[in-house]
Amino acid sequence: MNRINVNLEKNSYEVLIGKNISKYLFREIEKGEFYKNIFFAIDTNVNKNHPEVIDNLVNSDKYKSNKITLKLNEYSKSYSSVEKIHSALLTKGYGRDSLLVSIGGGIIGDVAGFAAATFTRGIQYINLPTTLLAAVDSSVGGKTGINFSGAKNIVGSFHQPKLVLIDTKFLYTLPKDEVVCGFGEIVKYAFLSEEKFYTYLLKNINDDFSLKESSLLRFINESVQYKSDVVSKDEKESGIRKLLNLGHTFAHAIEVDQNHKIKHGQAVIAGLNCMLNLSLQLDLLTPERFKRYSLLINKFVSEIKIKKYDAANMYKIMLKDKKNRDGKIKFVLMKKVGEILLDVEAEKKEVITAIHNGLKIFC
Ligand SMILES: NC(=O)c1ccc[n+]([C@@H]2O[C@H](COP(=O)([O-])OP(=O)(O)OC[C@H]3O[C@@H](n4cnc5c(N)ncnc54)[C@H](O)[C@@H]3O)[C@@H](O)[C@H]2O)c1
Repeated sequence: MNRINVNLEKNSYEVLIGKNISKYLFREIEKGEFYKNIFFAIDTNVNKNHPEVIDNLVNSDKYKSNKITLKLNEYSKSYSSVEKIHSALLTKGYGRDSLLVSIGGGIIGDVAGFAAATFTRGIQYINLPTTLLAAVDSSVGGKTGINFSGAKNIVGSFHQPKLVLIDTKFLYTLPKDEVVCGFGEIVKYAFLSEEKFYTYLLKNINDDFSLKESSLLRFINESVQYKSDVVSKDEKESGIRKLLNLGHTFAHAIEVDQNHKIKHGQAVIAGLNCMLNLSLQLDLLTPERFKRYSLLINKFVSEIKIKKYDAANMYKIMLKDKKNRDGKIKFVLMKKVGEILLDVEAEKKEVITAIHNGLKIFC
């Protein structure tokens, strides 16, 4: 089992990574300064696919323990789902000395994290991610929140977990498209981090996206290590944490323009391709590097379909992004793997061209 530390002074926590490690949850709870009134928020698909693991976790005779199972999507990543968790907590008599544990993907993690951040002004929270996307990205960093009025993640809070426990056993029951989504964020980390990891990923990503434990562990460890380092330096995204938005300005616009018919991780891959195209147009990326980085993106072409898109609408959506300042879209672009530029501005015409060039391989 590997342990990665997210160093945030009094909000510091560990990320544990390994196979079959969810059984160590209670050992970690005993070791840490955790409350023992535990409430589980569990994704219904995980509950169905891993009944034994879930039963062993939930049916503790040592602690107060209750659970709610939730079937969520981007539309129900909403106040009403937060309300369900809050109501269950109240009904079952939980107070400020409670520990909320989410077991599921990025959606339940964001919703349960926000419920934990707001219940009695904040209770303890542990994240057990069960999708590849949540394992490599969303479970670490403390961003929690919900969608509201058509805007993604517009209501939320920074609320760091007390522990993240990544058990790779969960990941083997994921449908292929969810594995592909996880790879979307892994590709982002390969672009952000260093050439060695980029080359490793390019070589070791299976054509059918099947998972092999040894390379899977490396993908997760590298991604989480990168994210933890960045979050440790900039907890609330006032500076370098913006790096993590590589490809995401485009990705969020794609998701909204496609009415959430495309999954977040798939939109990230398409968004990363728009980012590469904009970086090329602005002469940040050489044509040789662009070609080399396209090799990785091209592996996903058969997995992502965009039927129709409206580039002008996407531009409008990007203008509304909560990360903008002074009414200008600020892009995260790249010169090469590991050499990233923040807050780059571009002409509307250039952005629209990047959208067309970035999306045409998926149409
Ligand atoms: N907080 C952050 O920093 C952050 C970062 C990236 C993404 N996100 C958010 O994450 C969300 C996407 O998360 P996601 O891709 O994990 O989607 P998700 O939570 O919807 O999970 C995808 C699907 O997989 C199923 N599932 C989960 N675990 C499973 C398992 N082990 N076996 C079989 N099926 C399983 C779920 O039921 C669901 O149908 C988006 O809302 C995005 O905004 C947040």
